[in-house]
Amino acid sequence: MPYAHITGWGMAVPEKVLTNADLEKMVETSDAWIRERTGIRERRIAGPDEYPSVLGARAALKALEVARLHPKDVDLIICATSSPEHLFPATACLIQDAIGASKAGAFDLLAACSGFIYAVHMAAQAIRSGAIQNALVIGAETLSRITNWKDRNTCILFGDGAGAFVLQASDRPGGVLAAVMHSDGSGGNLLILPAGGSRLPASIETVTNGHHYIHMDGREVFRFATRVLAQSTLEVLEKAGLRLEDVRWIIPHQANYRIIEAAARALKLPMERFIINLDRYGNTSTASIPIATCEAVEKGLLKAGDKVVFNGFGAGLTWGALVAEWSGPLPSATRPIHMERYRPLARLRSWLRRSIRRLEGLIWGRKA
Ligand code: ACO
Repeated sequence: MPYAHITGWGMAVPEKVLTNADLEKMVETSDAWIRERTGIRERRIAGPDEYPSVLGARAALKALEVARLHPKDVDLIICATSSPEHLFPATACLIQDAIGASKAGAFDLLAACSGFIYAVHMAAQAIRSGAIQNALVIGAETLSRITNWKDRNTCILFGDGAGAFVLQASDRPGGVLAAVMHSDGSGGNLLILPAGGSRLPASIETVTNGHHYIHMDGREVFRFATRVLAQSTLEVLEKAGLRLEDVRWIIPHQANYRIIEAAARALKLPMERFIINLDRYGNTSTASIPIATCEAVEKGLLKAGDKVVFNGFGAGLTWGALVAEWSGPLPSATRPIHMERYRPLARLRSWLRRSIRRLEGLIWGRKA
């Protein structure tokens, strides 16, 4: 049975920074309150032309470059997102088109902030089963577009960004070792985007009542999160036959410093074992784990051979954890990759396909 290795990683965040001082001018809050209660100092906000697919494609190409994998060799793209560009088409399909992954199946996975863990697990299973060779898993968000900037309970928390992993099959042992996924829909109302789906389609009322924004019971989500982060970590380690001492790094969903502190206390681990960068990005939902991972690799903290636990929680309610032996690019990945060429080529390919479709439409239209 092949192993599923994480062989590439990439991230993309918008340029624009929104600091706590900026938020002080928008709602009744203070830099001190936000830092003390959440650990967040600033977050990134998408510009007018930055959508999840734009950030996701940038992160994906960087991940492919690290793995030295051509977009056309990707078999599967899973985009985990809590702020999909549309209900359909899937954001994953928009990314597939943008990077020219012409042979890939693509779909979105909606498990809120746990989505990236769920998606890596699904991709790893597809590789382990022998069904596919190469997968691209992306977490991409523009949560700023569904945030109520007048609601101080939520607007201080969220930020925009994207991160991506490449997963590849190899006979060499390692890679994704085990994962656990959980859900409890009875808590669905605690963190919800009430309208815009088929239950409450957009109407004047839904807009007037602010039902197209994130609604959250912060205290309840906090209580739930502090419980499940440590629990799922121990559970996944047991499944993999590992002990906490075997693990070099824990990379948690970056929601709130105090939630991570509570997990560290429960696991009796020092905070130094956790990768934390939420002070600079806030909660970027599905993108938070891959962004934190990219920075950990860049700083030389996460190295090939390290065992690492990713754990997260989010709306649904959902939670989960995944343990992996960090791999790096496969030794066979030696051929040159020219990512700067693939974007224009993908654009040309997309334009050609749309033109052919228009032409076919004209021909078939005439015949009919
Ligand atoms: N600035 C100043 N005061 C504030 C602010 C603010 N931004 N927000 C709330 N307050 C006030 C409240 O009104 C309350 O005042 P009151 O006591 O007079 O009623 C007081 O501060 C304390 O409020 P709490 O809600 O108890 O504050 P808490 O310490 O719990 O922090 C927070 C709130 C940061 C939202 C916390 O509950 C939290 O992080 N919860 C988890 C949220 C989360 O992680 N969500 C994402 C999940 S992942 C996903 O799927 C997207």
